[in-house]
Amino acid sequence: MKTLTHKLTMTTALVSTLLLGAATAHAQPQAEVLHYWTSGGEAKAVQALKEDFEANGGKWIDAPVAGGGGDAQAAVLRSRVLSGNPPAAVQIKGPNIHEWAATGALGDLTAVGEAEGWDNVLPPLLQDIVKYDGKYVAVPVNIHRVDWIWANPEVLAKVDAEPPRTWDEFNAIADKLMAAGITPLAHGGQPWQDATIFETVALGLGGAEFFNKAFVEKDPETLKSDTMKKVFDQMRKMRGYVDADFPGRDWNLATGMVMRGEAAMQIMGDWAKGEFVAAGKKPGVDFLCIPTPSNGGYILNSDSFAMFKVTSADDNAGQELLARLILGEKFQETFNLYKGSIPARMGVNSDKFDECAVKSMIDLQASSEGGELVGSVAHEIAAAGAIRGAVLDVVTEHFNSDMTSEAAVERLAEAIELAE
Ligand code: GAL
Repeated sequence: MKTLTHKLTMTTALVSTLLLGAATAHAQPQAEVLHYWTSGGEAKAVQALKEDFEANGGKWIDAPVAGGGGDAQAAVLRSRVLSGNPPAAVQIKGPNIHEWAATGALGDLTAVGEAEGWDNVLPPLLQDIVKYDGKYVAVPVNIHRVDWIWANPEVLAKVDAEPPRTWDEFNAIADKLMAAGITPLAHGGQPWQDATIFETVALGLGGAEFFNKAFVEKDPETLKSDTMKKVFDQMRKMRGYVDADFPGRDWNLATGMVMRGEAAMQIMGDWAKGEFVAAGKKPGVDFLCIPTPSNGGYILNSDSFAMFKVTSADDNAGQELLARLILGEKFQETFNLYKGSIPARMGVNSDKFDECAVKSMIDLQASSEGGELVGSVAHEIAAAGAIRGAVLDVVTEHFNSDMTSEAAVERLAEAIELAE
């Protein structure tokens, strides 16, 4: 009996080893991908990734969660991970990547990174975002610039307006547009969008040192400073430049208003350019990309895909394939042309990129050298979680009430202190 049992056990072990080996050797790469890129330009960009993945033998399982800025997706991700059913790949970024990595939930992409030479093609700034404990736990797909004004040149021409170089010039143009019965600012009243405008004003009026002292160092004096009061003064003026139907409007619908000439400008990251491009609009002709007024500043946002720990050989093979494709030179060009961003990978040929993207590349370098490059708070690069939440809450409450600037800075300092 012992011999028979022993033989059976050995046979079973041998068979399962062979099956596992076969499975690994012939894994069908697959990946369930959780993302929130559901608008026109975003959808085309994610479609490019899906097609690249499938062309390389991958099975793409799409898991979109509508809702610009990603707050809705973040809630879905938390519930999926807590229920022990994480997606293979998730579009997250900034400190959120390190927070998930600290829980042990992320897989290790270091082998792919070494094989693909990521250390040589990723700027140190992005390496810091996607590495944890020296290991690659995510792969960056782009660099978005947040501090842009998207303008309709025909509408600006109605009031003989030139692109504003200061916030005073912005206000003077907006006042002329109002007098002409034209909506100056297309806007969606959602906390992340209010905070997007807020941070461009904060960088513009205070500069990078002020911005980082306030939102990264969370210095109470800076948060309550006269400069911060001036930022809220400007936000009060901006509130007067939006149309009555702004509450809750999705960002891409605001972009459409500028496209159709129903409003003159939108302040939004260059994913908005993806909407113009998807609609066949030409920069410099149908729309203008104008950096929001600042002293050579640049607010950086970067999207990444983090690979959560999975068990099946197919999922692991899918994650490795996806990670390899995302930083591939050809894909970096294709994806970012649709998305409105610029490549995360250094050295990608810029010939096909338009004047807005080229300006972003030039200004990124200049702002970095000039010490005016900051990470976005609204888009979870310089701050995330409770600190970002505190900023969004106070900015949105101020924008939608008659709160004074004096009260707003007190609330901001208090909310950030409580969030620490
Ligand atoms: C940002 C994200 C961009 C774009 C935007 C609007 O946070 O980084 O890729 O999707 O939200 O949804």
